[in-house]
Amino acid sequence: MSERAGCHAHLTRVDHTGLDRATAALLGPSLAIFQLGESGTGEHLFEAARRAGTDADYRQCLQHFIAEEQEHARLLALVLDALGEPLRHRHWTDGAFVLIRRAHSLRTEILVLMVAEVVALSYYGALAGGVASPDLTEVFGRIHTDEMVHVAFHADTLPNQLRRFPRPVHALSRVLWSTLVVGAALVVAKEHGRLLAYVGVPRRRFLRQVLSDHRRIGATLFRR
Ligand SMILES: [Fe+2]
Ligand SMILES: [Fe+2]
Repeated sequence: MSERAGCHAHLTRVDHTGLDRATAALLGPSLAIFQLGESGTGEHLFEAARRAGTDADYRQCLQHFIAEEQEHARLLALVLDALGEPLRHRHWTDGAFVLIRRAHSLRTEILVLMVAEVVALSYYGALAGGVASPDLTEVFGRIHTDEMVHVAFHADTLPNQLRRFPRPVHALSRVLWSTLVVGAALVVAKEHGRLLAYVGVPRRRFLRQVLSDHRRIGATLFRR
């Protein structure tokens, strides 16, 4: 991930989305919620990583991971500006995520982050494949590629931390994680369903994609 963080050309403006008003009106409010979700500072996560006694290499990767999320927030803010859509500063889904993440340890924080990552894969993938604007396709494609790297990074590093849970807690974490992924996917399908259908991914297909990613990634995360 460290090589990836600085390798994108630095986009400073999105001049022309080329989208008609109806599409912009559908895309803007949905993106504003995802932009808010991308814009955390990572402070709490670093503190949890320090408390958990993780090594310097891991913490450096974590820093690159947060830097990439902040780059996503910056790119999406440029898109929102071009769409004439104001930034959001709060939304109940973001508040709920922050609350659950901050309740426990580094493992819990990353697990909850992974709920958002798994759902984001299908969301950005749908936008990258279905928005009729070359500039926006590039932005969504970049973010989607980064999210795949993030999932691979956490799928590589989190299982060791999860194995330290006693077996029953490990099993319970898997059930809770799966419940959260399904819940988050249902919320996104409901609240962003019109946009997803418009870009060619109807709600049911979106849900099938998330559930398929969830099975694959869950099997890796919770291997013993
Ligand atoms: Fe992101
Ligand atoms: Fe991510």
